[in-house]
Amino acid sequence: MPHASWPREAPTTQVCPPANAIDAHFMTFETLTSTIFRLQTALDALAALGAELRMRREGLPVDRRLASALREVITALEPTLLDGMTAEQESAALVIVQAALGQANELMTDPARPPGWSYDDPAVLQGQGQASRRFVHAIEAYAERCPDLRRTLREPGAFLDVGTGVGWLAIEAARTWPALRCVGIDIWEPALRLARANLAGAGMDEWVELRTQSVEDLAERDAFTLAWLPPFIPLDMTPVALRNLRRALVPGGWLVVAVLGANPDPLSGALSRLKLARYGTYSWTTAEAEAQLGEHGFEQVATFSPNSRTVIIVGRKPAPG
Ligand SMILES: C[S@@+](CC[C@H](N)C(=O)[O-])C[C@H]1O[C@@H](n2cnc3c(N)ncnc32)[C@H](O)[C@@H]1O
Repeated sequence: MPHASWPREAPTTQVCPPANAIDAHFMTFETLTSTIFRLQTALDALAALGAELRMRREGLPVDRRLASALREVITALEPTLLDGMTAEQESAALVIVQAALGQANELMTDPARPPGWSYDDPAVLQGQGQASRRFVHAIEAYAERCPDLRRTLREPGAFLDVGTGVGWLAIEAARTWPALRCVGIDIWEPALRLARANLAGAGMDEWVELRTQSVEDLAERDAFTLAWLPPFIPLDMTPVALRNLRRALVPGGWLVVAVLGANPDPLSGALSRLKLARYGTYSWTTAEAEAQLGEHGFEQVATFSPNSRTVIIVGRKPAPG
């Protein structure tokens, strides 16, 4: 018989959490793992899409069963997803997938790196550039509703592409608006090197002038009929960028800026803000961007969103009279 004064074992309820706490803890971990598995489906599908595009573009010899399994994934995504794509469209889609996976991997690998635009992985730079071509189509779509802008795009003039990167937006602009001479400025030499090759490859090197220049140092006056300012310029540089761009535009010239993360879906919005924070910049709301353009003397400020991923804000330098 144990002695009556022997220390008794502590009641289990004091050692272990109550049963409902165990459930809550278990459920939380269950929720976490099921969230991971749910997201993994999208990640795996994106990688499978990239693999299918690589096989198409590069004619890689691949095991027959694997090829059929990949096609099954594409069919499950959308049976006609890749139908009717040109070789150029397939290549453009492939670099966008590669950039998305490359940027995601870079975030995971080095989450603590100081913010800034410091990518030198060609896949990331090319993909980011390809994705930016859509802004040319957004401007073109807005011009369908705005005859003054439409006229500007069709008449002889000049387009300034700030942050031209690897040059894809400039190439798309030069193809879409052949009356406009294009000037692309950037400060990131790894991107500009690729831009020179992209322009030569697209046969557009005569149409687009590339300059190593910061928008901070833009000194021209009344030179451009259209200017594009991407949402990647550091926040503290924005006022000087807007002042310089206003001066560089001809009277009646147009400035177009983009807002990322304006999407009403909270996860997409948060992911855009994360991306911009990673680039060391700030995600303007639509109202803030409109106010910035107004404060810097732009008129006819308007917001246009051709789809849920693209929001552009357009303003015009006042013309005399
Ligand atoms: C997302 S990239 C642009 C993509 C580009 N449209 C393309 O086709 O590749 C943003 C670019 O802004 C550039 N940038 C950042 N600060 C800048 C500045 N102060 N002046 C000019 N460009 C700048 C970066 O170097 C980067 O290449």
